[in-house]
Amino acid sequence: MTKVGIDKISFYVPKHYLALDTLAEEKGIDPEKFARGIGQNKIAVPSHDEDVVTIAAEAASNIVAAEDADKIDTVLFATETGIDQSKAAGVYVHRLLDLPSRCRVVELKHACYSGTAALQLACGHVTRKPDRKVLVIASDISRYDLGSPAEATQGCGAVAMLVSADPGLMEIEAVSGCHSEDIMDFWRPNHRKTPLVDGKYSTIKYLQALSGAWDDFAENGGRAFNEMAQFCYHLPFTAMGVKAHRKLSSINEAQNDQGLIEPGMVYNREVGNCYAASLYLSLTSMLENVDADLSGRPVGLFSYGSGAVAEFFSAVVQPGYRDQLMEHQHRTLLSDRTSLSYQDYVEMWHAPDPHDGLSHITPHAARGRFRLTHIDEHKRHYAAA
Ligand code: CAA
Repeated sequence: MTKVGIDKISFYVPKHYLALDTLAEEKGIDPEKFARGIGQNKIAVPSHDEDVVTIAAEAASNIVAAEDADKIDTVLFATETGIDQSKAAGVYVHRLLDLPSRCRVVELKHACYSGTAALQLACGHVTRKPDRKVLVIASDISRYDLGSPAEATQGCGAVAMLVSADPGLMEIEAVSGCHSEDIMDFWRPNHRKTPLVDGKYSTIKYLQALSGAWDDFAENGGRAFNEMAQFCYHLPFTAMGVKAHRKLSSINEAQNDQGLIEPGMVYNREVGNCYAASLYLSLTSMLENVDADLSGRPVGLFSYGSGAVAEFFSAVVQPGYRDQLMEHQHRTLLSDRTSLSYQDYVEMWHAPDPHDGLSHITPHAARGRFRLTHIDEHKRHYAAA
C-alpha cells in the first residue's frame, strides 16, 4: 500500500512579540508564573497588515515549488480566526500563490482541532489519488481579552504542510483514536472578536479528551506507548503538554520522561498558542530539535480542539527527512524578531475592524511578502511584495 503523509512542512511567525517578562512586570506578577507555571517566554503579535491569510501565504510559499503547484488539486485551510462568514480564507492564499484554477479550496473549523481534520482528509484524498497533492494550512491568531488570565496564552502563527504519496517527512498511519463531546470550555459567538473561555475547566477537559482518544487509539490497534520515539501535543501553552504527557505516562504505567516531549516545545515556547497550527508547530519543533536520527521511528501526536474534538494518531519519520526540513529558515524567523513595549502591544492588539464600508489603508509593517493592503467596501485586499 502506498505511504501517504507530510512531504514538507513550514511555519511562519510575525516579527513582533511580547515578552512575558514584560507582561509580568506590567501586571505586577512574578515572571516565574509565566516562565514555569505556564511554560511560555513570548507571544507572537501580528501587525495590522497581517492576518490569517498573509501568514498562511508566507508559510505555504516556502513549500510550494512549481512542480508541486501543478499537482495540488486541493487546498484545506484550517482556522478559528475566520475573516469572512462565507468566503474561505484559502481562496485568497490560492491566488497569492498562483495555484492552478483546477483546484478545490475549503475552510475547516473546529477550534484548535481543524488542522488535524484537514491533515486526515488530505491523507484520505491522496490515498485515492496518489498522483495528486494537497496543501494543508493551519493559521490562527490567538487573542484573548486584555487583563484576562488567558492573556498570557495568546500567540500567532501559521503552518503549511504538503501532503503527498511517498512523503519525504512523515508517513501518517491509518490508525487513530478520536474523542468528541459537546462542552463549553472555549467558544466564540459570531459577534465576538475574542473567545470566551472557562480556562481551568478547559485544561481538565483537554486531559479527559486525551484519555478518551488514547483508549480509542489502543482499541483500534494503535501502537504501544513505549514504541513512540517522541510525543507532540496540542500546546496552548507548554505546561499543558507537560500535564498531558504526565497523564499519558501514568495511564500506560510508564516513566514520565520529559526528553520525549521537550524537543516539541522549543518553538511553541517562543510563539505562544496558534490554535489549529500549534500541534504542527510542535511537530516542526520536534523534527528540528531532536539530535538523534529519527528515521523509521514512530511518534505520537495529540490534537485537541475545545468544544470538543480530540484525536490521537501516529506518524513514522521517513529516511532522509532532514533534507526536507527548513530548519535554518525557521530559526532565523524566530531569532530575527522585535520585542514590543507593553503600550505598543496594546496598540497592536486592537486590530482595526472597520464596519463602515469606507476605504481603510493599512500601514506597512509586516516583514513578509504578503500584506493586507486595505479594506474597501467591506472587501479585504491583499498583495504580494
Ligand atoms: N511560579 C511558578 N508557577 C506559578 C507561580 C509562580 N510564581 N504562580 C502560579 N504558578 C503556576 C500555578 O501553580 C499553576 O500551575 P498548575 O497548573 O500546575 O497548578 C500555573 O502557574 C497557572 O496559574 P493559575 O492556576 O493561577 O492559572 P491562571 O489563572 O493563570 O490561568 C489558564 C491559567 C487557565 C491556562 C489561563 O491562562 C487560560 O484560561 N488560558 C486559555 C485557555 C487554555 O489555554 N486552555 C488550555 C486547554 S483548552 C485548549 O487547549 C484549546 C485552546 O488552545 C484554547
